[in-house]
Amino acid sequence: MLFSPMTLGELELPNRLVMAPLTRVRSGNEGIPGPLVVEHYRQRASLGLIVSEGTYPSHAGRGFPGQPGLVTDEQLAGWANVTAAVHAEGGRIFAQVMHAGRVTHEDTTGGYEVVAPSAIAIDGETRTYEGKKAFPVPHALTAEELPGIVEEFVTASRKAVEAGFDGVELHSANGYLLHEFLTPAANQRDDVYGGSPENRARFVIEVTQAVVDAIGADRVGIRISPEHNVQGALELDAADVRATYGHLVDALAPLKLAYLSVLHKDPASELVQDLRARFNGTFLVNTGFGIVTTRDEATALVADGHADAVVVGRPAIANPDLVRRWREGLPVNEANPATFYTDGAEGYTDYPAYQN
Ligand SMILES: Cc1cc2nc3c(=O)[nH]c(=O)nc-3n(C[C@H](O)[C@H](O)[C@H](O)COP(=O)(O)O)c2cc1C
Repeated sequence: MLFSPMTLGELELPNRLVMAPLTRVRSGNEGIPGPLVVEHYRQRASLGLIVSEGTYPSHAGRGFPGQPGLVTDEQLAGWANVTAAVHAEGGRIFAQVMHAGRVTHEDTTGGYEVVAPSAIAIDGETRTYEGKKAFPVPHALTAEELPGIVEEFVTASRKAVEAGFDGVELHSANGYLLHEFLTPAANQRDDVYGGSPENRARFVIEVTQAVVDAIGADRVGIRISPEHNVQGALELDAADVRATYGHLVDALAPLKLAYLSVLHKDPASELVQDLRARFNGTFLVNTGFGIVTTRDEATALVADGHADAVVVGRPAIANPDLVRRWREGLPVNEANPATFYTDGAEGYTDYPAYQN
């Protein structure tokens, strides 16, 4: 099953392994993906679909030093090389559009103000060009400023398609801007974008609708991570989680997106499977950071009917030929976390393919 073809939007995927969005911070101060990034993605083109690392739609939305963007002409030219290389190898690639929201610092954004639904800082530190610093208190976006953020997502998505991406994945997971609207821990607004579950889901729905209008539903996926509870995006009230994500997914379903991707430690849970039923479209899952995805787990998730495809992170970092290795039951390389966020080829393009 895992190695059978499937349809996603207008794409035919040769297998059901999706390379997870994986931030690797190898695009320099200017956020331009260079030849090394091209090579990294090119090597992994046999995965059914690649989702790029989180890419910022505006300078204020940049989350990390070394993260690539979808803003400048130079960044887009760099991505055009990536998408051309993946396509030349017979692969498919979506761009993950990620506005970091409050999970950043002015030292990382280049002085651009850090923004969020409410002026609530994350309790913790972030890596900046100047070393580790406490997360700042973000500027609470005014209602008048929100259409500008929607426009950033739209413009970045258009540019991504122009740069050859097959589509975009809206990053509404892991505590970044879109997720911040969903969670009461980061959203304490008293306008129509805060308070009730319906109100907290509103901004994500508006962004998704606008991006669909701009590039077409077949090219738009979205990632969510209910109850993942990272980076201050706490969702501890199960009834509120059900209401918020239920409302969100009910509103997304009629848009006929390319897919819904859910990060949750238990994809078989009632919560996740209820979201799947309500979405009624192509459904991707990933079990999060707790344990590394294994071949057996991925096989079972698809065979048991819990998802159409499985999103795979660390095994895809360590095995450019993961599809072959898992299909043929070959040994796998282990990913080295010490080189996840470093510079250069080590731990990035030097994991070997299986030699026989
Ligand atoms: C180095 C690293 C970078 C990541 N970057 C992103 C990212 O940019 N966007 C995102 O949505 N998730 C990101 N994640 C989460 C992964 O997409 C995935 O959910 C996680 O690795 C768990 O899956 P796995 O057990 O298959 O590795 C990252 C994870 C790792 C290990």
